[in-house]
Amino acid sequence: MASSNLKAQRTIYIGNFIHSATRTTLSFQFDTAVGVDEHGRIAFIAPNITLATSISSLVEQQNWQESTYNTVDTRKQGSSQTTTFFFPGLLDTHTHAPQYPNTGLFGSSTLLSWLETYTFPLESSFSSLSRARTVYNRVVRRSLANGTTCAAYYGTIHVPATTLLAEICFKRGQRALVGRVCMDRMSPEHYRDSSAQQAIKDSEVSGDAIIALDPSGDFVRPVITPRFAPSCTPEALAGLGALAKKKDWAVQTHVSENKAEIELVKELFPEASSYTSVYDDAGLLGAKTILAHAVHLTPPEMKLISERKTHVSHCPLSNTCLSSGAAPVRAMLDAHINVSLGTDMSGGYSPSVLEMVRQALGVSRHVAVERGAQHALSVEEGLWLATRAGAEAMGLKDRVGAFEIGKDWDALQIVLGDAGGEEHDEDGEEVGEEGKLEAPVDVFRWQNKKWDDIVAKWVYTGDDRNIAAVWIKGRLVHSTEAYQS
Ligand code: GUN
Ligand code: FE
Repeated sequence: MASSNLKAQRTIYIGNFIHSATRTTLSFQFDTAVGVDEHGRIAFIAPNITLATSISSLVEQQNWQESTYNTVDTRKQGSSQTTTFFFPGLLDTHTHAPQYPNTGLFGSSTLLSWLETYTFPLESSFSSLSRARTVYNRVVRRSLANGTTCAAYYGTIHVPATTLLAEICFKRGQRALVGRVCMDRMSPEHYRDSSAQQAIKDSEVSGDAIIALDPSGDFVRPVITPRFAPSCTPEALAGLGALAKKKDWAVQTHVSENKAEIELVKELFPEASSYTSVYDDAGLLGAKTILAHAVHLTPPEMKLISERKTHVSHCPLSNTCLSSGAAPVRAMLDAHINVSLGTDMSGGYSPSVLEMVRQALGVSRHVAVERGAQHALSVEEGLWLATRAGAEAMGLKDRVGAFEIGKDWDALQIVLGDAGGEEHDEDGEEVGEEGKLEAPVDVFRWQNKKWDDIVAKWVYTGDDRNIAAVWIKGRLVHSTEAYQS
């Protein structure tokens, strides 16, 4: 497939930059210029930029020719009162691309009945490439519009449709782990790998096709994807573990999501000491493994995951929709597990990682009611999970997740609404300004200076309408009318 025609150009971004400094703190850099080179990498960061600052002298210091760079000066965009800032791209560490048409459809089912009633019938239809093409294009566009610069996708068992998903991510410029789903038992016969050998072979073929598409791995990479322990025979799991090791590929699967599922794993793997150890016994737990959910882990399982440096994708909206339970994120963080966020569409009904931040804050408060106030996560922690922790889970810790020299420009421009000030009519009566209502998050002018509050308002009330532009590796992959370059 021809490489994407998106291009990075030397660009200087000027405005406000916010990212996670530590798990519990944000860094705010106002009136700053960030220079991004033609490879999409951050080349310099210059503070204290005023309207009088000479950009050409800044550029000369960097040996950048004046004629070969663009400037995106957010101070000039929109109304002068608009609140705007750059934020790192968001990472969705667990989602199912083929399930997108089912978002919002789950009724009152729980995991095992939901799989049978909603999920397997839809996924099996991806034997049709035309269906895959429409759905996957829509999913990737929707995900980009919501600011997801990198996603860990599950496909279906079908090799051609899964390769197509990788092609679409690559063409649209989204970073992605793309996994062909392996399942050689416990699903309808027409939607099942015919044997463990076939499951392993098709996984290798699928992974090789993805590597051929993007040998650099900058955008798309394969991921070995056993659906979950109940769907896989011990032979399939062991073969996939060996394949992951041979190829040095990432691994993703589900763990300990639902109590009935955990009982089923006990029955199917009577020798295993825990659900998590089923994967460990198969050689599937390592520093490139992402385990989704982890709602009901025991302390020894947390210890094992931590020792293996395996990552957890917390999927709070799915926890709620499928009545799975409230994952104890604080306990996992305290056990030194890297916890990131996943939308788990369509276990969850939203493709937005920002939505996952607020759902995680909500779920953590339910945990706090049961286990104590320290279990509640802060806005800052939620944003860390969505960026730095996601980058670590996807093996991109040194490349994305924050604005630092040498990292790639994977970024969002956030624009919040101007809700006016305290205007008065001639009789001194207060009048609300009839500002535009297109994008949510109403910032009143008298609130403008408290940036912690502004970020909290964005997290709790913002959505894709506040995302004016999305860049990945320096390339503009999505923009709205609110963005003027
Ligand atoms: N466990 C096995 N398959 C799935 C799936 O598709 N979604 C979720 N949430 N859990 C699973
Ligand atoms: Fe899932």
